[in-house]
Amino acid sequence: MTRNKAVPSLAVLLSLVVLAACLVAPAWAVKHENFKTCEQSGFCKRNRAFADRASAEGSSWSSPYELDPATLSFQDGQLSGMLVKNVSEHEKVQLPLTIAFLESGAARLVVDEERRLKGDIETRHGSKINKKRYDEAEKWVIVGGLEGSKTATLNAQSETGFTNVAYGPNGNLQAIIRHSPFEIEFLRDGESQVQLNKQGYLNMEHWRPKLENSESESAEDESTWWEENFGSNTDSKPRGPESVGLDITFPGFSHVFGIPEHADSLSLRETRGGPGNHENPYRMYNSDVFEYELDSPMTLYGSIPFMQAHRKGSSVGVFWLNAAETWVDIVKKKASSNPLSMSASEKVDTHTHWISEAGRMDLFVFLGPTPQDLSKTYGELTGYTQLPQHFAIAYHQCRWNYVTDEDVKEVDAKFDKYQIPYDVIWLDLEYTDDRKYFTWDPLTFPNPKGMQEKLDASQRKLVVLIDPHIKNKNDYFVSQELTSKGLAVLNKDGEVYDGWCWPGSSNWVDCFNPAAVPWWNSLHKFDKFKGSMPNLFIWNDMNEPSVFNGPETTMPKDNIHYGNWEHRDVHNINGLTLVNATYQAMLERKKGELRRPFVLTRSYFAGSQRTSAMWTGDNQATWGHLAASLPMVLNNGIAGFPFAGADVGGFFHNPEKELLARWYQAGIWYPFFRAHAHIDTRRREPYLISEPYRTIITQAIRLRYQLLPAWYTAFHQASVNGTPIVRPQYYVFPEDEEGFAIDDQLYLGDTGLLAKPVVQENTFTTDIYIADDEKYYDYFDYTIYQGAGKRHTVPAPAEKIPLLIQGGHIIPRRDRPRRSSTLMRWDPYTLVITLNKDSEAEGTLYVDDGETFDYERGGYIHRRFRYQDSVLSSEDIATKGAKTAEYSKTMSGVSVERLIVIDPPTSWKSKMSVTVMEDGAKTATIAPLEYHEQKDGKASYAVVKSPNVGIGKTWRIEF
Ligand code: GLC
Repeated sequence: MTRNKAVPSLAVLLSLVVLAACLVAPAWAVKHENFKTCEQSGFCKRNRAFADRASAEGSSWSSPYELDPATLSFQDGQLSGMLVKNVSEHEKVQLPLTIAFLESGAARLVVDEERRLKGDIETRHGSKINKKRYDEAEKWVIVGGLEGSKTATLNAQSETGFTNVAYGPNGNLQAIIRHSPFEIEFLRDGESQVQLNKQGYLNMEHWRPKLENSESESAEDESTWWEENFGSNTDSKPRGPESVGLDITFPGFSHVFGIPEHADSLSLRETRGGPGNHENPYRMYNSDVFEYELDSPMTLYGSIPFMQAHRKGSSVGVFWLNAAETWVDIVKKKASSNPLSMSASEKVDTHTHWISEAGRMDLFVFLGPTPQDLSKTYGELTGYTQLPQHFAIAYHQCRWNYVTDEDVKEVDAKFDKYQIPYDVIWLDLEYTDDRKYFTWDPLTFPNPKGMQEKLDASQRKLVVLIDPHIKNKNDYFVSQELTSKGLAVLNKDGEVYDGWCWPGSSNWVDCFNPAAVPWWNSLHKFDKFKGSMPNLFIWNDMNEPSVFNGPETTMPKDNIHYGNWEHRDVHNINGLTLVNATYQAMLERKKGELRRPFVLTRSYFAGSQRTSAMWTGDNQATWGHLAASLPMVLNNGIAGFPFAGADVGGFFHNPEKELLARWYQAGIWYPFFRAHAHIDTRRREPYLISEPYRTIITQAIRLRYQLLPAWYTAFHQASVNGTPIVRPQYYVFPEDEEGFAIDDQLYLGDTGLLAKPVVQENTFTTDIYIADDEKYYDYFDYTIYQGAGKRHTVPAPAEKIPLLIQGGHIIPRRDRPRRSSTLMRWDPYTLVITLNKDSEAEGTLYVDDGETFDYERGGYIHRRFRYQDSVLSSEDIATKGAKTAEYSKTMSGVSVERLIVIDPPTSWKSKMSVTVMEDGAKTATIAPLEYHEQKDGKASYAVVKSPNVGIGKTWRIEF
């Protein structure tokens, strides 16, 4: 059980109950009864019913929404007008609409409700909540990319009943807006890509007064309009029903990806039942789901309402900017355009139906055409991943809990003894004094500074847990300040909300309140959080927020945040606001410190990538959970939040050694690579595991460290253009339909490294799918695999990670094992080169100090390596700035110590040396070349030792 430490006596009782349950039923099942199905969520049920009515009526159904052409105006790339909802002949609801066509090629549709905008409604129960529909999500999420298109043109605004807008950087995009019924079709190069309200499911539940004691004549089910019960909670709904729903069709697209977080396949399934399909829509309502299940559309801890649709030749996307509870139905149907075709490659349309409980409608449409274009444009809006400190991409050692400061030091020493590198050790909640954050338990952590100094001796870091629930206790300074300053979340009656979490009775900091941010900052200062040092970083957990005695383990929806917004309006952004505040606090911990913060978050929303890393929460030590971690991490990457990982080893229960070893072999491919374990599990630090597994795990971690230069380069790329750090098959080969659904193998950045972790028990070979006809080389022994559109069987004995390199790449590595990654800072590089069919290769390397923001002022090295016409060269692709010279100087002694060319031309057999020319050197030098012949399907290779060219220099090596 997770919760046992909060209420010890209950824990014993619960354990017995669980034990008893285990004897009769399979263990570890999610408690479905604690979380709503669509049927149990009033607005979801109503919108599904509305969609069913529309479908049932078919062509006789007419969406009651129409755009009044007389109201339309067009300025600065933005179309504005009034959408009218025809409730009845006499009742028409005015819904102001804008469609902004953006310079980036994205389009944004916003629909609000006039009456609510004017505050012309009454709230029930005397509630003081905001009368508007929530319109501040963008304040937390959008950081750029909103420049209106200067070239968008209104093509026709005629009596035809349509308004057309041509837009996009090349003028090749088009929006055809039908007035009645209201529909929009987005086209690229004349071809339809995205259709809104094609099915007529658009539904904005407008405000209505509750007619007390009157029988409604409405055909709609009103049972959940004014109040809604779930479990023992009653949601008071002071504004009544107010959901927004819309169907979005992707014509000719059979795959959709994204909308994390779900423990499911990368290619999302249909959700309206049938074999292999889900019964419920994918749900996004950030929740602490205890013992979550796999292959499920159930909500998890984070939400990013960004979806990519993909087919050969086109990738398009939508971003539904809404922070309230959201459900997405997915249905795939044979394309309507060709009803007679019976061919196997029949085109499919994917119909999605988006349903949110509250807020205005705010939707971005991206027309690609490539997955990279989507990452870039979506990232322009919501921000790119922060470039983390270098240590943060190395190995993290966590468990609940390292119990004393001596324990921490001992673990640290053991890693050294067994020569296993690691960078960060973590303290879960038991380091605190009685679960009061910003304090240390005086008995078990009497000397936190001594502990951090010891870690610092090998440049290691400490991460400690700080949760948003604040123990409700008079003599706790944080609690006193929180309530006296009025910074806590309130209940529906306007009193400080009290709920149950780890510390028992708790209050929650309301980071929507701007005043909470400086206060939160102050708590992190070295003189407030006494005993914390500069090598201490933060883990924000339970920030959905998790409330043990709240509805669906979170806060009541009618709780009130700053600005008189209901929790209902902002729920999915809540976790992000805390992390933003923590990020800010870590930036300002000490005047002039200016080091990149590291914050881990469990709850997240679009935009969280700017400040944090995430992990997939409380998984289980099972093979299934190991397998599920790959699509989950990949999916987060394509949803713009690639700094993602899962608890290595599984959080709950004790993994068998084989599972643990395989998990490390997979975990080294998570951008965020951390082992973690529940308090009730046995210790499982890698050095404790018996051989051969200890060595297997050590080798895996060392491989991660060896490839850190390639990882950091991929992180840098993600930070400038949003491309995922690890990428799924479709993303790398968007034209190869065979690969679209593959989610168990991944590519590291654009290094050409293709990994396929083993995720099944007792399995010693695996099949790797290769899309193209380049040669692929086994990373370790250079076995050649070639053949496009096929699966290739690759040996995978226990000690082996199935890992190939595509021909045509130059991969930077650092081969000298060290205790921590920071200690590798001045180590020389090895370049591994595989040639493509044209005997060429390319790769990049990004390096900076891994710690400060100097890189923003040119303090970095960015090189492009090329092999062409028998010459390997290094070219500068950095932009210079004030810090360039200084940084180059610090790196001037760092060189390339080795080149490995896999499968070189056979003529190299007789080659003995290469000629090295570094810019600025007076003469060329000669470096020796060794040629190694291999047989049995393994490629030969050549090694150039000590070419000794500077990593930051321009040079040429002639072969
Ligand atoms: C939550 C977290 C888990 C952590 C535990 C105790 O369950 O997901 O990682 O160990 O809380 O803080």
